[in-house]
Parts: sequence; C-alpha cells; structure tokens
Amino acid sequence: MAETILEVKNLKINFKTYAGLVHAVRGVNFDLKQGETLAIVGESGSGKSVTSNALMKLIPQPPGIYADGQILFEGRDLIPLTEKQMSKIRGNDIAMIFQDPMTALNPTMKVGKQITEVILKHNKNTSRAEAKKRAIELLDEVGIPYPEQRFSQYPHEFSGGMRQRVVIAIALAAEPKLLIADEPTTALDVTIQAQIIELMKKIQKERNTSIIFITHDLGVVANVADRVAVMYAGQIVEYGTVNEIFYNPKHPYTWGLLGSMPDLDNNADELLRTIPGSPPDLTNPPKGDAFAARNEFAMQIDYEEEPPMFQVSPTHFAKTWLLHPDAPKVELPEAVAKRIKGYLGEEVEQYV
Ligand SMILES: Nc1ncnc2c1ncn2[C@@H]1O[C@H](COP(=O)(O)OP(=O)(O)OP(=O)(O)O)[C@@H](O)[C@H]1O
Ligand SMILES: [Mg+2]
Repeated sequence: MAETILEVKNLKINFKTYAGLVHAVRGVNFDLKQGETLAIVGESGSGKSVTSNALMKLIPQPPGIYADGQILFEGRDLIPLTEKQMSKIRGNDIAMIFQDPMTALNPTMKVGKQITEVILKHNKNTSRAEAKKRAIELLDEVGIPYPEQRFSQYPHEFSGGMRQRVVIAIALAAEPKLLIADEPTTALDVTIQAQIIELMKKIQKERNTSIIFITHDLGVVANVADRVAVMYAGQIVEYGTVNEIFYNPKHPYTWGLLGSMPDLDNNADELLRTIPGSPPDLTNPPKGDAFAARNEFAMQIDYEEEPPMFQVSPTHFAKTWLLHPDAPKVELPEAVAKRIKGYLGEEVEQYV
C-alpha cells in the first residue's frame, strides 16, 4: 500500500468581500497516496482553484481566511507555516501548473536558463554544465523536439502547447513529490490537450509523482485519474475511484456532469451540455443540500438538512440523501447512461 502524502481535513476558506463573507471552500476532506492522481472536478466557481491554491498557501490574506482545517503534507500541517517555511516547500516539494503557461514563465529569459536556475537552486552541488545537460534532458522528457536548440529560445518562440510543456519541465526540475495542475489543458486545442494529458500520465508513471489534476471536464478525467473528487458549492459531493465515478455514479450532480460530457464524436446534444440552474450564492449558502434547487430528485429533507457523506464502498462516498436507506430508489437517468456509454464505449453497458 502506497504511503499517504497529503491529507486534507475539514478545509474551510472564506473571503471577506463588500457583499459579505464568501464561503468558498466549506469543509473539504481528501487524501492522496504517493504516485496517485486525484482529479478534482466541478463547474466554474465550485472551489477547485481555491482548494488547490490553499494547498500551496497561495490564498491572499486578506481577503482570504483559512477558517478551519488542516493540510497535512507528509504528516506536517502547512496552515500554520510561515511564508518563509512555505516558500521552501513550494517548488521544492509541491509544484503547480496553471491554465496560462505565461503566468509561470519569464518572457525576457531564455527557457533553458529558467530551467537551469531551478535545477541549481535545488541541487547546490551541481555545476552549470551539468544543470544545462539536465535541462536539455528535461525538455526532451516533456516532448519538446530539438531540445538543444530550444534551450536557447524565449517563451514567445513556443506555441501554447509547447509552452505548457516548458512549464512542466520547470516544475519537474525541482523533482517535486506533488504536482498540482489547475486546468493545464483548458486553453489548448483538443489534440494538444490529449498530448499534455499523456505527458502527465507518463510523468506519474515514470517518476511516481503524486498529481492533483483540476478540470471542469469530467471527460478528461477518465484518462488521467486514479480517483475523482467531485466539487459543488465549496464541498466534495462525491469521491471515488475513476471506475466508481464513471460506472456507478451516485450523486445527481455527478450525473449532470457526466451528462454534460461531449460524446466521442463530439456531437453532444446541446440540451445536455449544461446542468440547468446555477450554483448557490456562497455568501449565504442554503440550508440543507446545496444542490437541492437544481436536483430533479430533491426531497423535502434536501431543503432542510445537509446530507452526510454516505459510504457506497470502501473507496466510494457520496453526499446525497438519495443514498439514505429510506429514500426512494432513483435510477441513473437514461440520457446520462447513454452519454457515459457514448463516451467510454459499449463495454460500459454491463454496468449502467
Ligand atoms: N479573492 C477572492 N475574493 C472573493 N471571492 C473569491 C476570491 N477567489 C475566489 N473567490 C470565490 O470562491 C469561489 C470558488 O472559486 P474558484 O476559483 O475556486 O472556482 P473554480 O472551481 O476554480 O472555478 P473555475 O472552473 O471557473 O476555475 C467562487 O465563488 C469565487 O467567486
Ligand atoms: Mg479555477
């Protein structure tokens, strides 16, 4: 059994705004084993970025407030650490990749130099020549053709997809134990997206790096993740292995996300592309189940009491009253089952 590298317990993040206190992350719990890839999925505003930025202690304070919880990285809580202690962990043990590669690159510095600087910073006894050799190897490892020539070029000489590869090379230069990727492929076209995902899988396999992969597109997840956490309104509402989430989803919000995936031919039924309604106002989260107002299967209790996390299997949990033993049996909607089959292929039929 692989070692647990990260354990997030009851994480709560608020933001002080003129409109009131925004409860952006409302008691998030998850863990991550060494070499494992966890995908965090959810609609815009569900709290994915706030959660991942919180892990790096990148929440600006103010307006942000770490209201509660623990972030145990290798057993040590990061929340009370000083900025100086955190800056040692950032880039060293935990590295982050964002949607826009330019935010991570220095436009006035050759990419090779940006990589060697990280190598030199993290390996005090390495010579410049050795660092250059390692940087070229890294450019090669992340799939950049002609790495020797590319070493001496500036970020603007790279395409979007190649730039994201450079960012990944910089992140890997520090040999982090945990890599957090916040929508690293969203700005890229579909073919390039697939290549970057292949690269992330290769990194995970070859280096045994733990990865947190954030996306609003469940379709991407089937190919990268070992486990999936589905977020809604600042909470994890379903949590399980990738097979459990795709073949045996239990939360109606997960059904909605699965139903919103384009099928393999990309001819998604427009009606299914979004879940009707909109997420609740996080300055004043509703009593009961935050998804109730958009849940076609909502019961009276959904408006009154927050559901607990019901256990479906030793690895699968979902926060919906539909799993209560007294709840009426609700089947996965036909249209969603069809979409999952359309996405994953016919072999899914036996499960849905
Ligand atoms: N600095 C801030 N001040 C106030 N509210 C904030 C701040 N940063 C985030 N929020 C709020 O926190 C909530 C969660 O935002 P977050 O960026 O984590 O969403 P997300 O799931 O990453 O969405 P997306 O898919 O659009 O990236 C949102 O309601 C957002 O408005
Ligand atoms: Mg985000």
